[in-house]
Amino acid sequence: MQKQTTDVPITLKVNGVDHSLNVNSEHTLLEVLRDDLGLTGTKRGCEDGTCGTCTVKMDGAMARACRVSLQRATGRDITTIESLGTADELHPLQEAFIEADAVQCGFCTPGMLMAAKSLLDRNSHPSRDQIVRALGSNLCRCTGYTSIIDAVDRAANANGNGLPPAKPTPWEPRWRTDATDKALGRAEYAADLMMPEMLHAAVLRSPHAHAELVSVDTSRAEALPGVQTVVTAKDVPGLNRFGRSLKDQPVLADDKVRQIGDAVAAVAADSPEIAAQALSLISVDYRVLPSILNPADGLKPDAPQIHEKGNILVENDYSWGDAGAGLDEADFVIDHTYNTPWCEQAYLEPEAALAYMDDDQVVIKTATQHSFLHRETVAETMNLPEDKVRIVPTVIGGAFGGKTDVSCQSIVALLALKTNRPVKIVYTRAESFATTPKRHPFQIRCRTGVTKDGKLTSLDAEMLVDTGAYASAGPGLFMRAGVSITGPYYFPNASIRGKSVYTNNTLAGAMRGFGAPQVAFAIESQMDLMAAKLGIDPLEFRMMNRRGATSKDV
Ligand code: FES
Repeated sequence: MQKQTTDVPITLKVNGVDHSLNVNSEHTLLEVLRDDLGLTGTKRGCEDGTCGTCTVKMDGAMARACRVSLQRATGRDITTIESLGTADELHPLQEAFIEADAVQCGFCTPGMLMAAKSLLDRNSHPSRDQIVRALGSNLCRCTGYTSIIDAVDRAANANGNGLPPAKPTPWEPRWRTDATDKALGRAEYAADLMMPEMLHAAVLRSPHAHAELVSVDTSRAEALPGVQTVVTAKDVPGLNRFGRSLKDQPVLADDKVRQIGDAVAAVAADSPEIAAQALSLISVDYRVLPSILNPADGLKPDAPQIHEKGNILVENDYSWGDAGAGLDEADFVIDHTYNTPWCEQAYLEPEAALAYMDDDQVVIKTATQHSFLHRETVAETMNLPEDKVRIVPTVIGGAFGGKTDVSCQSIVALLALKTNRPVKIVYTRAESFATTPKRHPFQIRCRTGVTKDGKLTSLDAEMLVDTGAYASAGPGLFMRAGVSITGPYYFPNASIRGKSVYTNNTLAGAMRGFGAPQVAFAIESQMDLMAAKLGIDPLEFRMMNRRGATSKDV
């Protein structure tokens, strides 16, 4: 049962202004800043003090706002990104970040700037090592850090000699059009959006990887004061299935759940706390089924069936020449099996959306990499014509493929349609990790044949891919992996086979590279092993076998 919360008084100074507030007793300093004072420049990334997006200064020292309780925050002097500079007068750090291209998605930028400010306040001439150490606990998923360290270095030099920051190039710098807003902390990400009368959404998720849904009782949640609506699968007015390639994922689970974190019910309430409390009042009766946690088990004849059509999502078989004969004619055959793991995109901005009605059109402002897919999906699942759905992409705090798929958009649209009020949803970090697509894990057995003088004769490859509970981009990705596995090398004979299999793991989808990194790891490792076997330099061996070097097939 969610703990009952009460409002408590707090006084604190923020950016030089004294505040006396009544705030929810469970709030941290981060919520006081963002929700009670509307200072959304400080970002919520991980909620456990790891990522650094909520870095502020507290009594002159760096602090993670999400880890500062009300008791600790009371009476303190807080400085946030909003006090650093203005559009007319950027702080030298902000200017340097923009000029050094240290602002990309920008979600880490306010926290980075406050950490850098804290360093320069203590030490106006830090060494590069000191900069690296000072920013070491602030994560950035876009820049690779070098440009950020360059920017702090540049601003520190400007501090020391009184000169403006050096221009990075002899030509006119081309600043990103949104870099200034991001550096000022005023770029609006979906979680920063507010509207009058706005409700807050929360989603009840399955704790089981595979289970039949016997019953869902929402009556106690509906009776909780402050709850405006509770929805389940029966409330989805259109097709309760969606997906990038196959429509196999429910908006809200109906017959069963197929992965931990499948959405079962959703609530819209007057506050995030009431929404969370309402979730704890929903009773769900599951009949737990055996789950499949790896694709090999999914192929066994007696394996439980995850989807009605069976456990194989897609099966491919490409070949040319005669792979078996090519291996026979080789002087050496290298036979090795490679495994690549799941990989989470770990963008710093969790999924979020705000939906509201504009006359008879539902508008969804959201972080998306594929607004047209999102419009099509919301329209189909809500049984609306596409021109009654408008997707407005917000500034996006990293995605790396992971925000191509629909996540919260249909659910928040459904809640807005039901209540006729604006509804905002913001995933927790745990929800984001548990329910959104990851990079597909591959098992790849490769047999490659090569002659004594270093000529490739054949590739025989077998791939087994875990697509998780749903298809997402699985078929297209699997096809690309199949055609990428030869790399840039010429194999006169090849047989490339594989299966992508449903399991009860988190669904897999797009993640930087779309199937190619997994097979590149396998084939490049084979090239190294063959070169070592022959005693040939690995680069020379690759040049000998590149497309165009050994055939007219370029
Ligand atoms: Fe740092 Fe995107 S710019 S996380």
